[in-house]
Amino acid sequence: MIHAAVIGTGSCLPKRVLSNRDLEKIVETSDEWITSRTGIQTRRIASSDEKTHQLAVESAKRALDMAGVQADELDLIVVATVSPEMIMPSCACLVQNELGASNAFAYDINAACSGFLYGLDLVDKYIGARPDMKVLLIGAERLSARVNWSDRNTCILFGDGAGACVLTGKDDGRGIIDSNLFSDGSLWSLLYMNGPQNLGPELKHAEKQDCYIRMMGRDVFKYAVRAMEEAVVDLMLRHDKSVDDLKLVIPHQANIRILNKLMGRLGLPEDKVFINVSKYGNTSAASIPIALDEANRSGRLAPDDLLLFCSFGGGFTWGSMLMHW
Ligand code: COA
Repeated sequence: MIHAAVIGTGSCLPKRVLSNRDLEKIVETSDEWITSRTGIQTRRIASSDEKTHQLAVESAKRALDMAGVQADELDLIVVATVSPEMIMPSCACLVQNELGASNAFAYDINAACSGFLYGLDLVDKYIGARPDMKVLLIGAERLSARVNWSDRNTCILFGDGAGACVLTGKDDGRGIIDSNLFSDGSLWSLLYMNGPQNLGPELKHAEKQDCYIRMMGRDVFKYAVRAMEEAVVDLMLRHDKSVDDLKLVIPHQANIRILNKLMGRLGLPEDKVFINVSKYGNTSAASIPIALDEANRSGRLAPDDLLLFCSFGGGFTWGSMLMHW
């Protein structure tokens, strides 16, 4: 049986570090409040020459290098993002151009913070049909451009960055085992961001300002914990797996309290969960691939390890995935 397996990972974080103390000078907040409510201590903020696609390209170069794959060998490039600089062309086409990946077709997907997990599922289907395909999947975000820096409810949470994987078909037991993905569009208004295409001439000036991330934090928190728990439990039962079988869990990094609740409900020991939210905050679609790259490069993954991914984001979108490393 052929599965899509990761053969290289990479990530790229902007240079500028914004600490909670720095945020105290921007909005009425405190290091103590942010740390205790979210676990976030710093986040990275992109400069004008660290655009979404530039972060994506750097992460991709590192993943390609690890995989030993040349850009012109790529068949497909998918970028998961909700914060591209341009609506058209896609971020993926800009990445294709900068990499010189002239043989690939390229497009973006949007499933908010679940974008990378949805992307892995999609790539698995392509590779299932054509196992020799070489695919570059990237999660890249520049959410600092899309938060309202006078709204303390949101601006403390998000950060910028990109993570990438190169995948191809393997028949040696490695790769994606299965996924469990969900959406509920009826809850869209609890977490959303208007796009510039909403800013038509018929809108008033005040409404044009309204393209920032909007969030009902408490509701999102409640749904996120329950939805990820259910998505994980279902998938594990389907494959007759228990917590003991897992080597590492790589969740979307939104908030340490969400992760702590999830670990408690699933009976997951802390040393089986990769957590870097304190350093980067919530980087939406980039959070899982950044964490995967850090776990990989720090030697925490060995061939055949059973990995579990889970995510939750705007839409709402959520899900889980099992993978043999
Ligand atoms: N600094 C200080 N005070 C703040 C603050 C900040 N940065 N942000 C909000 N507050 C205040 C509120 O104004 C409110 O004050 P009030 O009681 O005087 O009205 C108080 O803190 C409590 O606000 P509330 O929103 O109820 O806090 P909370 O305990 O729910 O924590 C979040 C807020 C956002 C940290 C929490 O709801 C959360 O983590 N939600 C999930 C968010 C998330 O992960 N989204 C992405 C999912 S992909």
